[in-house]
Amino acid sequence: MKTNLSPTRRAVAHLQAMTHRTHALLPGRAAAGIWAALKVWAITNEVVLIPANTCYIVLWAVLKSGNRPLLVDVDPQTGNLATGGLNAALAYNPAVVIPCHLYGLPAPMRSIVQWAKTHNINVIEDAALALGANVDGQPAGSWGDASILSFGLGKIADNQVGGALLSDDAVFIREAGRVLAGLPLWDDRLMALTNQWNSLYWSLHQYETANPRLLDLYPQLFAIYGELTAYRLAADDWAELPKLLRHLPDNLAHRADITAVYDQHLTHADSTLLPALARPAGSVLWRYPLLVAAHLRNALLGSLWEQGVHDATRWYPPLRPMTAALAPHSAQPTTPAADALGASIINLPLDERTTVEEAARIAALVNAFLSDQEH
Ligand SMILES: Cc1ncc(COP(=O)(O)O)c(C=O)c1O
Repeated sequence: MKTNLSPTRRAVAHLQAMTHRTHALLPGRAAAGIWAALKVWAITNEVVLIPANTCYIVLWAVLKSGNRPLLVDVDPQTGNLATGGLNAALAYNPAVVIPCHLYGLPAPMRSIVQWAKTHNINVIEDAALALGANVDGQPAGSWGDASILSFGLGKIADNQVGGALLSDDAVFIREAGRVLAGLPLWDDRLMALTNQWNSLYWSLHQYETANPRLLDLYPQLFAIYGELTAYRLAADDWAELPKLLRHLPDNLAHRADITAVYDQHLTHADSTLLPALARPAGSVLWRYPLLVAAHLRNALLGSLWEQGVHDATRWYPPLRPMTAALAPHSAQPTTPAADALGASIINLPLDERTTVEEAARIAALVNAFLSDQEH
């Protein structure tokens, strides 16, 4: 259908309909939405609960807003926050919680929202990896006091850049729009800075625990690259988003097909493949999460890369080392489940470049690698 609406208007209307929200904004990235929500709520120097296995940029957004991140352990069966872990964090008197639907697997939002209400805690629902998911029968992105989506590099709807901030509170959205309008515009300099940081972080996160002195770099790096946490985009940067959103059903159907191929072909049944994460009804998959014994994980990844599977990754590493470096004054509780998950995770590709044949090949490579370990 042809309309005269601008791409941003069309995208906003689409996202509102999809998430049943009355309001949506398009920040330069999802992290900017988190930052803006904390600003609008005038929350400063407060404890903000984040999953110990979420993306580092969530940590950065909390730090940039002048708040104190606190890592919370996840449920080992789901990889997501649950009220058990959150109860343990009440002792720290938190003001906000940022539950994430990790890998597109729904977090138990009904109980988390209820828990937060009881304790007067604001919820920012992180649906950056869960575009199109349903959580307990309601869309991902519909649950938080504010919710975020991401269209950044490698996300389900990959616009290279961009995010959404969703809410049903008109006053909140008006204020967030004002705050976001004051951010610097994404330009060639910020793009170059992003490319630099992505390369550095790709190397750093793989070796930070093997060489703890690398952690000393994080405060300096945050001083240089921290401005990447929040920016706004020019109108042209949104041109493709309406099409990406229109094609989301096909995109998700492809991901489900490739997921079925991995499910079918990853046959290796011994202790080197750990129990898979639970996939609640309504899940979508951002990447296919594969858990392998921690002592084999890096060698398996290296072997996949050598055989051309460059898109096998290990997102997300535990946030503990970076948090300790960037927020040294907050003692962090232990997070064994998130740490174990971070040490075992491999993500296999599901995007449109991954064909059924390629997925079967990748699964065969994984099986062969694990068989070799036995002999
Ligand atoms: C779990 C999670 N939350 C939030 C974000 C932030 O998204 P963005 O890159 O659009 O800021 C990302 C991705 O970077 C993510 O993976």
